[in-house]
Amino acid sequence: MAIWNLGSINVDVVYSVPHIPAPGETLASTGRDTFLGGKGANMSVAAARAAARINHIGAVGADGRWTVERLLEYGVDTRYITEVDAETAQAIIMVDPQGENAIVLHPSANHQIPLATLEGALSEAQKGDWLVFQNETNLQQVAARIGRKMGLRVAYAAAPFSAEAVQRVLENLDFLILNKVEAEQLRAATGKVPQDLGVADVIVTLGGAGAKWFGAKGEVYIPAIPVTPVDTTGAGDTFTGYVLAGLDRGLPMEQALALASKAGALMVTRHGTADVIPDLAEVQAFRS
Ligand code: RIB
Repeated sequence: MAIWNLGSINVDVVYSVPHIPAPGETLASTGRDTFLGGKGANMSVAAARAAARINHIGAVGADGRWTVERLLEYGVDTRYITEVDAETAQAIIMVDPQGENAIVLHPSANHQIPLATLEGALSEAQKGDWLVFQNETNLQQVAARIGRKMGLRVAYAAAPFSAEAVQRVLENLDFLILNKVEAEQLRAATGKVPQDLGVADVIVTLGGAGAKWFGAKGEVYIPAIPVTPVDTTGAGDTFTGYVLAGLDRGLPMEQALALASKAGALMVTRHGTADVIPDLAEVQAFRS
């Protein structure tokens, strides 16, 4: 089968900082790097690294041609990334010595993905394929509707989180992933706990404490793999890309989640985003 990812593509400009600046504070960075990033691109690269057939659906400006070339080098099908008359999206990321981050997004081309690009891509999708999207692009609602109608397995990685955005697509989802705080925010907005959302599989990530799967077997806990964090940016995206790739390859949920936990843990030990996502061999060898 295959995964179709309606996803953001960002140029990540990452500043290492002694601490995340407070309002009004001016701070000198101790380092700066540029990476391919975006929650969408990170998930596509993770899925490719995890040996899935992954098609990215997105948009960049002329200044972002290099990002498309890089995705292709990493094994992502880029035929449905359209060049639009806008800047490629950018993320300004600050990372502190504990590996925590603060991110400012400039969405630009990510909000201008043409409907024809989405429709063209999904005309090639087959029943049973996965369709995933996040909250960094336009067309989420229409994608969810088309995906459900076509019999695709529709997955939403609810980041950056907005309870309204989740509610707009909820009825068409088969898979939802969000963190503990977001699950609580969604409960406050809908009055529903994960098992009552009407979504077959809901994953609630618990950061350094692991994850919970709410699905056919009830509530299942997936333990974390302890690591010393260097940079947590992109670890959640890596986790999601690996879970979907595992499910797409026919792994049972617990196995896909266990592999994803390893991938996410290994990612936290690395500085950077899409360019440093570990491949399957590295993940399998990690703490085995
Ligand atoms: O989740 C990490 C990602 O968030 C970064 O790559 C950045 O581009 C933002 O989208």
